[in-house]
Amino acid sequence: MSFRVQPAPPARPNRCQLFGPGSRPAIFEKMAASAADVINLDLEDSVAPGDKAEARANIIAAINDVDWGNKTLSVRINGLDTPYWYRDVVELLERAGERLDLLMIPKVGCGADVYAVDALVSAVEAAAGRTKRIGLEVIIETAAGIAHAEEIAAASPRLQAMSLGAADFAASMGMQTTGIGGTQEGYYMHREGQRYWADPWHWAQAKIVAACRTHGVLPVDGPFGDFSDEDGFRAQALRSATLGMVGKWAIHPKQVALANEVFTPTEAAVAEAREILAAMEQAEREGQGAAVYKGRLVDLASIRQAQVIVKQAGMIGG
Ligand code: COA
Ligand code: MG
Repeated sequence: MSFRVQPAPPARPNRCQLFGPGSRPAIFEKMAASAADVINLDLEDSVAPGDKAEARANIIAAINDVDWGNKTLSVRINGLDTPYWYRDVVELLERAGERLDLLMIPKVGCGADVYAVDALVSAVEAAAGRTKRIGLEVIIETAAGIAHAEEIAAASPRLQAMSLGAADFAASMGMQTTGIGGTQEGYYMHREGQRYWADPWHWAQAKIVAACRTHGVLPVDGPFGDFSDEDGFRAQALRSATLGMVGKWAIHPKQVALANEVFTPTEAAVAEAREILAAMEQAEREGQGAAVYKGRLVDLASIRQAQVIVKQAGMIGG
């Protein structure tokens, strides 16, 4: 470990973030009744320009009136390149109750974007006499965002989570795809007449995970557009979990159970992690730093790997 110890991310479950347009208040109660850990009420791209003011009013009313249980409640504001975002922040923090947990900033391109929102949030929070400190989350979905991911992850102590937004990311990067996440037709290796599919999102995800883990932020996989394709969603989510992401968005209620399934460690995985920890305790008692578990090497690093799974299971259970 470096002299600087890796900070722990917020200790809350973030297996699924369920989105819904702020202009569709009829689904808010259904969102609240879902099994998602995080609810994202949207003011940005699922709301038409003419509906922004009404969507804000809907969301403010719902934050106050709907029973959101123990979910993390987040509102996605408009991007900093629009005329809407400052009013999103001001109206939400002046008029919505203390139940609001997070603001999500889309299309973040540099640390200063987060700094600017933090400054406005801090001023409105103080002026309005809010007692609960609002957290922030961001979406990396532009070339600038991925280029500056580490600077963004370090930009504010309010920052709790960072998501990869595949659709806008693909557009900004000039990628030849109209799909939102998942396997892409043109991205394969070829050998002896066979195609082997590769993952065009891999490097962006790995970069986000590294930036987040360096600064104690939760790395999250964003939307998977084809909500009829369960196997495709599961495969995408399993790759994200394997790389260190803690959860995935749902853009349709069908996807919530799938995300929860993938990002909850299985009983078998937890049992194995506990056995590895027990094997290492035994090794330590015998004065050994390494041991053999089911025919394979386990050592001090295995303790840290096993603790990731045990801790995650504990947090979700608790
Ligand atoms: N959250 C909770 N419930 C939802 C929902 C959501 N995001 N989207 C749909 N539902 C409800 C519907 O009201 C319907 O309920 P009912 O059975 O009581 O009638 C049920 O789930 C089935 O919905 P369905 O008819 O399959 O979908 P739809 O055509 O009503 O809506 C979408 C499909 C994709 C337009 C809608 O899910 C949606 O707006 N998703 C979020 C989009 C978004 O926020 N994008 C921004 C982030 S990328
Ligand atoms: Mg987007």
